[in-house]
Amino acid sequence: MRNRIVAGNWKMNKNFFEAEELIAQIADSLGDIQAENKIVILCPPFPYLEMATDIAEDAAFAVGAQNVYPDDSGAFTGEVSPAMLASMEVEYCIVGHSERRKYFNESHEFLARKLDGLLKNSVKPVFCCGELLPEREAGKHFKVVEQQLHESLFHLTEDQISDVVIAYEPVWAIGTGMNATPEQAQEMHAYIRSLISAKYSSKIADGITILYGGSCNAKNAAELFSKPDVDGGLIGGASLKADDFLTIFDAL
Ligand code: PGA
Repeated sequence: MRNRIVAGNWKMNKNFFEAEELIAQIADSLGDIQAENKIVILCPPFPYLEMATDIAEDAAFAVGAQNVYPDDSGAFTGEVSPAMLASMEVEYCIVGHSERRKYFNESHEFLARKLDGLLKNSVKPVFCCGELLPEREAGKHFKVVEQQLHESLFHLTEDQISDVVIAYEPVWAIGTGMNATPEQAQEMHAYIRSLISAKYSSKIADGITILYGGSCNAKNAAELFSKPDVDGGLIGGASLKADDFLTIFDAL
């Protein structure tokens, strides 16, 4: 049985004290018993990671970073390396989010290097893919996602890809309140799984967790997660309120 995951991508939100309070609220509600195959990941901003991993030691959630630089060390002012994340017991890292592709011009090739750096350090990537609205309107969404997977992900070995979580996030759904329908999500998730099966094997494809992201909230999560290839969600806005985030986790 593959893992089902709800991950909170906080983006650039909350001051330190607000972040600490939110993490403590979520930790309290989850208790310290992790349900089998059900994982909560919290991805706060970099400066809060140590506080988060401290609380996570006695709680049922894992900690993820929102970004990383590919190399382990060096003269890259302002950047954070996979080795640094690993040394802080950060277990996951988001890679390829559409905001990084758009505002920081991150290329397929650069994302592939980030994946390599993370996997070398045993930090599990949460790899985001998804099409823009004009691409969907032109019927190109499958091609766009296929290219994103081919150019950034499909150089990985079987062992490596098995440690990757994929998040399908149609860009037109992110932060817009206009989520993909459960049918649209299922269709793309099944397609992604078929690509992994063709490139690797059906066994590998069946084991990979594929999350949906884009205006997933406490109201629509249960219906989205009821689809057979939707294994949970990458949650932005709705991860900033403990009640909403926990309701989404309950929908897993
Ligand atoms: P959203 O963001 O839930 O606010 O749409 C999702 C994401 O960007 O990962």
